Amino acid sequence: MNRPSGAVQYANEGRCVLVNGGAKGIGRAIAEAFHASGATVLCMDIDAGAKELPSEITFVLGDTSQEADCERAVSAAVRIGGGLDVLVNNAAVQPPASYVLLDQIESSTWNQMLAVNFSGYTFLAKHAVRVMKLQGSGIIVNLFSGQAHRTARQVPCYGPIKAANVLQAMQWGVGYARQGIRVVSVSPGAIDTPLVRASIEEQGGEAELANRHPLVRIGQPEEVAAAVLWLTSADASFVNATDLQVDGGLGAFGAFADPYPD
Ligand SMILES: NC(=O)c1ccc[n+]([C@@H]2O[C@H](COP(=O)([O-])OP(=O)(O)OC[C@H]3O[C@@H](n4cnc5c(N)ncnc54)[C@H](O)[C@@H]3O)[C@@H](O)[C@H]2O)c1
Repeated sequence: MNRPSGAVQYANEGRCVLVNGGAKGIGRAIAEAFHASGATVLCMDIDAGAKELPSEITFVLGDTSQEADCERAVSAAVRIGGGLDVLVNNAAVQPPASYVLLDQIESSTWNQMLAVNFSGYTFLAKHAVRVMKLQGSGIIVNLFSGQAHRTARQVPCYGPIKAANVLQAMQWGVGYARQGIRVVSVSPGAIDTPLVRASIEEQGGEAELANRHPLVRIGQPEEVAAAVLWLTSADASFVNATDLQVDGGLGAFGAFADPYPD
C-alpha cells in the first residue's frame, strides 16, 4: 500500500556555504542540495574534476591539509557570498593502503590521513570561525563516520582519527555557542560514493555490506545531504555540539546479534 511519506523544502537564498571535498561523493551531493535550495555555494577540492559541478557553484582548487589554502577558500566565500553562513567539513581520505593492522601502517599513510582528515577540518574551521564571530552567526557541519563510534579490524588510522573528529565538533560547539555559532556532525553508514566503491571488496562485497544495515542497503549521498540541510536550518536551532548518525540503523545493530538472512 502506498502511503504519503511527507516532504520538506529548504530555503537557503542569501546564505553562503563552503563545502570541502565537494567534487564528488557526499560533498558533491551536499553542494548540489544547497545550490538547489538557493544558496551561494563554493566547493573546495584538490580534484579539478569539480569543474563538472553546476556552473553557479564556485570551484576553489585547494588542499585542506594546507592552512593557507583553507584561509584562501574562506576569503573567497566572503568575497563572493558577502560572509560565510555554513561550513561543511567533508574531505577525508581512506586509501586502500590504510586497510591493514597497526603494525603494517606506513608512516606516510598515517601522516597523510592525519593531515587531511584531522588537521584539514581544524584549519578550515579556524578560519571560518573568525568570520562567523564577526557576523555573530554561523554553522559548521563535520562529516564523521560510524567508525567514529565503533571500530573494525583494519582501520588503525581512519577509525581513531574519526573518533577524534567527534570531539572537534563537541569542543568547537561548546567553545563558540555564545557567539551564535553552532557546530554539529553527521556520521554516515556506508554510502554509495567513490570512496566506498574503491574498497567494496575489502568490505565483503556490496550485498554483504548492504546486509549489515538493517535497512538492507547502502545509503545514497543525497540522504546525507538532506540531514545536513536540516541541521543547518532554523528548524535545528537548538541542536549543537552533537552528532547525528545517518546509517540505516547500522550503529544500533549489535555485533552479538544474529546476522540477517541473505
Ligand atoms: N562514503 C561512505 O560510506 C562514508 C561513510 C562514513 C563517512 N564518510 C565520510 O564522508 C566524507 C565524504 O566521503 P565520500 O565517500 O564522499 O568520499 P569521496 O572519496 O568519494 O570524496 C571525497 C572528496 O574529497 C576530496 N579530497 C580528498 N582530499 C582532499 C584534500 N586534501 N583537500 C580537498 N579535497 C580533498 C576528493 O577529491 C573528493 O572529491 C568523508 O569525511 C568520509 O570519511 C563516508
